[in-house]
Amino acid sequence: MMEAKDVTKHYPQGSRIVKALQGVSLRIEAGEFTSIMGPSGSGKSTLMHLLGALDTPTSGEVFFQDRPLHKMSDRELAALRRNRIGFVFQFFNLLPTLKAVENVALPLLLSGISRAKALKPAYEELERVNLLDRAEHFPDEMSGGEMQRVAIARALVIHPEAVLCDEPTGNLDSANSEEVLKLLRKLPEPGKRSVVMVTHDDHAARFGDRIVHIRDGRIDSEEWVREKPNYAITAAHV
Ligand SMILES: Nc1ncnc2c1ncn2[C@@H]1O[C@H](COP(=O)(O)OP(=O)(O)O)[C@@H](O)[C@H]1O
Ligand SMILES: [Mg+2]
Repeated sequence: MMEAKDVTKHYPQGSRIVKALQGVSLRIEAGEFTSIMGPSGSGKSTLMHLLGALDTPTSGEVFFQDRPLHKMSDRELAALRRNRIGFVFQFFNLLPTLKAVENVALPLLLSGISRAKALKPAYEELERVNLLDRAEHFPDEMSGGEMQRVAIARALVIHPEAVLCDEPTGNLDSANSEEVLKLLRKLPEPGKRSVVMVTHDDHAARFGDRIVHIRDGRIDSEEWVREKPNYAITAAHV
């Protein structure tokens, strides 16, 4: 569960202030796939950064699994980002000097797990995204679609409770986009893992359960693309 309660984000820009978010409230249940859609500059990335504890709001509160982020120390926030949230970005952010499998293992290596122990789950995640045959390749030997699937495997290797994606298909052709979107669609787990995808593309947004439309830093409207899951029933039966 992730929640933003009446958040604003203001950026000083020279002598004026850019109001990137102007009072946004949004609750995302565990297991939900939420698309956040809006034109360029509407505040999508800013909202995703707040939900993922990459940045702090100017006012308002953000919660992750009911814990208020503003009450966490920097250490706790770093641990939250490292161990519980998987991030996927438009330009993949793979390290060019590491092979695919090493890029996937990186979050585990950074949290102190030995190379020998980190590589096994990294291979497993590459298999999940159907790229085991690319494990020993470097990013510049892969297509954009393959690089994004490696980035998704890297996001998954920590078994995150949330996967946050910022324009994950923004740099891909339509065939590769489709493959990445189908993969993202498989990630939500009822009562467990949620997926948030920021996009300006209506076709991509429709892979979510719900589309939250954002405009000028405010939620404009929201629509359920798929039937709203009954989380109460799911929770009662686990
Ligand atoms: N670090 C920053 N400093 C100043 N202005 C920023 C910063 N980040 C975003 N903005 C501004 O905030 C607004 C929303 O940006 P952003 O959240 O990136 O929108 P989107 O992801 O929807 O394109 C834009 O006007 C952008 O220029
Ligand atoms: Mg953006």
